[in-house]
Order: sequence, then structure tokens, then C-alpha cells
Amino acid sequence: MRKKIVAGNWKMNKVDGEVKTFLSAIKQLSYPSDVDLVVVPPAVFIKEVTNVLEPKKIYTGAQNCSEYEEGAYTGELAAKMIRSVGAQYVIVGHSERRAYFGEKNEVLALKIDQALANNLTPIYCCGEKLEEREAGNHFKIVEKQIEEGLFHLPIEEITQCVIAYEPVWAIGTGVTATPEQAQEMHVFIRNLIVKKYNQQIAEKIAILYGGSCNPDNAKELFANLDIDGGLIGGASLKPEEFIAIANSFS
Ligand code: 13P
Repeated sequence: MRKKIVAGNWKMNKVDGEVKTFLSAIKQLSYPSDVDLVVVPPAVFIKEVTNVLEPKKIYTGAQNCSEYEEGAYTGELAAKMIRSVGAQYVIVGHSERRAYFGEKNEVLALKIDQALANNLTPIYCCGEKLEEREAGNHFKIVEKQIEEGLFHLPIEEITQCVIAYEPVWAIGTGVTATPEQAQEMHVFIRNLIVKKYNQQIAEKIAILYGGSCNPDNAKELFANLDIDGGLIGGASLKPEEFIAIANSFS
């Protein structure tokens, strides 16, 4: 059985008071014990979020980490710092990092290495842009992202990773991939893992869907065999919506 995971990527949202309001609300809500819930706030809030949510068995993550171990890299956050304040996960290669901060697969591979070396579970993001899908290149693009960002890992390390398929055209647009489109890509990704590693390894790796996932469409998405949960943006900012998504597994 693969892990079911619902992770909430807050992106660059919320100030201190709003974080406190979120935390007191989410503590009151319940969700199935076989779902791993991960809150991914801006890094300045990781410690506080961890302190409040750890007793509730809700994990914390960071939205990015440096490809370097430590040193003179002003403004960067090392994986070991993130781990040292209690986070268990780190998102690597989000499409916004790729688009606005020029992160390429080669650098992302180094970030994955830093995450793993510091006992963080990387959530590696992949996904095509609209024009790439319209040109019929979506499988090729995702294959390249996965190969160059993840497939340098040995078998013991690839099993520590989580993959998130986030079609760029679905992020923050209100246009969700259909369950069929999502499942088709998840099967494609799992088959890449079968080819590179083996079936047993591929069966172990959780593949999440992200892109306008909300309480109204999560059930239909999560009902698919290869969709193991979600990476949620907008809907993760509201505790009730986030938890409703975690309650959407059948
Ligand atoms: P939305 O759920 O707001 O579309 O964002 C998805 C996302 O980018 C999560 O990382």
C-alpha cells in the first residue's frame, strides 16, 4: 500500500496573525489516520507550524531548499536548516521556481540530493505548460523533468521521494486536469520508474496531483489508482477546505 498524502503549499501567503488563526482552526478538524497531511508554509513559519502541528501528527515542509550544503549564499536556505527546525518534507522544482527563478533540472537534481542527505522527503514537481500539451509534447517534457531531476538516484533513495504532477495550465487557474488526464500522466510516470528501476519500486512511490484541486474535485481525482493524493495551493490556505480534501479518499 502506498502512502496517501495531502500537502498544502501556501506559496507566498499569510502573515504571522493569519498563521496563528489557521493553526488554531486546523487543530479542531479531523481527517483519516491513513492520510499523511503536510503543511508547507513560508520558511519563516516552519518552526511555529511544526511546534503546533507535530503533536497532531501533521507534518511540515519547506517550499524550496538550496542546492548547496551551507556557506556564503545570501538569502538561501539549506536543507539541513529546514530539517533542524522540524520540517520533514521539501518541495523541489515547483513550476513557479522553474518559471520565475530559472531553476533547471540539473540544479533541481542537486537540491534533491541535499534534501535526501538531510533526511527530508523531497516532493519533486513536474508538469507541462499549456502550449506543450497542445503540441502533444506533454509526455516528453515530463519524462525529461523526471529523468534529469530524479533518475540519478540509486534505488534506496528514489523510494524516499514523492512526485507531484502539476500541469502548469492547471495551477491557480481553476482549470483542473480531468481525472483521466491526471491518471494517464501518473501511469506514464509510474511506468518510467518501472523502466528505470523496477515494478516493486514504482509501486512504492507516491505520485500526487496538483493544480486547482479543491474539495469539489478531489474525490474524483483521488479515486484513480495511481493518484495517491494532492499538492494543494489555494485551497490549502483555508483549514476547512484543506481538511475536506484530506477527507476525499474513498
Ligand atoms: P493551486 O491549487 O492554487 O492551483 O496550486 C497548485 C500548486 O501549485 C501547488 O503546489
